[in-house]
Amino acid sequence: MAKENKKEYRFDTQCLHAGHDVFETNSISPIIHQSVAYPYESAEYAAKLFRYEIEGFTYGRIDNPTNKIFEDRLAILELTEKALATSSGMAAEFIACMRLLEQGDEFVSSGTVYGGTNQLFTQTFPRMGITAKMVYNPENLDKWSNSITNKTKFLFVESPSNPNLFIGDIEALSKLAHENEIPLIIDNTIATPALQQPIALGADIIVHSATKHISGNSTCISGAIAGSAEYIDDLRSTDYRNIGPAISPFNSWLLLLGLETLGLRMKRHSENAQVIAEFLEDHSKVVSVNYPGLKSHPQHELAKKQMSAYSSLLSFVTKGELDDAKNVIDAFQLIIHTGHLGTTKTLATHPAFSTHEQLTQEERIAIGIPDTMIRLSIGIEDVDDLIEDLDRALSKIH
Ligand SMILES: Cc1ncc(COP(=O)(O)O)c(C=O)c1O
Repeated sequence: MAKENKKEYRFDTQCLHAGHDVFETNSISPIIHQSVAYPYESAEYAAKLFRYEIEGFTYGRIDNPTNKIFEDRLAILELTEKALATSSGMAAEFIACMRLLEQGDEFVSSGTVYGGTNQLFTQTFPRMGITAKMVYNPENLDKWSNSITNKTKFLFVESPSNPNLFIGDIEALSKLAHENEIPLIIDNTIATPALQQPIALGADIIVHSATKHISGNSTCISGAIAGSAEYIDDLRSTDYRNIGPAISPFNSWLLLLGLETLGLRMKRHSENAQVIAEFLEDHSKVVSVNYPGLKSHPQHELAKKQMSAYSSLLSFVTKGELDDAKNVIDAFQLIIHTGHLGTTKTLATHPAFSTHEQLTQEERIAIGIPDTMIRLSIGIEDVDDLIEDLDRALSKIH
């Protein structure tokens, strides 16, 4: 007996059921299909499989039944036809972009991207003869259109961005991309489809560090790409197959567990982060707070329009000098200091000396990352315990 997975089920239901036939696997939890190869029933079957004329599984670097459940579920959540799981968020970004580029091509990206993405775009791609034009005032649409040439192959935006919470106008940027007959790629890591579905706003391709909110519990490095069937099928049969950034089936299984509670977690992350952002905004030892849910955020109205809540990530600038920010971080007792985000536990990061350490101080200032900025990824703890920890740590500033 097969169980019907209805397309019209609502988001939270899809998080639990999409892509998984419990009768087919005879298990209410997806099975971990821990095998690198699959038997072909005949020579003709194998030939058709490798010509992509029929659906099936070829080899573990290219496809896997557990990975497929995760991919099918994510595609439904992101409103795309298909998805592809990768070994990390960086691997997802690399192959998603690379497939659209040839030597000599260009693309345009918001300058306000995760430090690793910045390095991929400004150091790795140039070695392949590819130019990334980084837009350092990405709220200004003219800066984007002025950067587009006949060599531009796509626009790339991380929204909200890590760590300074820039909000890209997805509708306006997709219009600009389509006027130039190129796709718009969105890094949807921070919002996740639970809070923002960029495809509904006109975007074409979604990339994720699934390591963050999708996994949700800090258990696996992983990534994903979602897009049209044509794009994903092509990617799987070329660069994904040739380069080898496959995800392990065990990690796909962990991601499926994570997705089950995505809607619930994102709601709680957002509620806690809103309370903490408001607490910090009123705090005498804090110069400024960056959180899209605050009315003071320059793009609050835009965030309100394209997100259903504002997620876990916020950053704030402490009073004083570099050492004051360091003292605050060292004084946290509950909040964990590390280089990660988007997980159930509250984490603090000092971007200037971790995630964005590869940039020069001038480059960091240009994208709004002063040395006294602390990034918080708010978890799902009792918010009062978090506030007590923050208040105690901020009292170290004199
Ligand atoms: C917004 C964003 N995109 C991509 C990445 C890269 O993901 P991964 O660490 O899974 O390779 C990160 C990592 O922090 C990130 O924050």
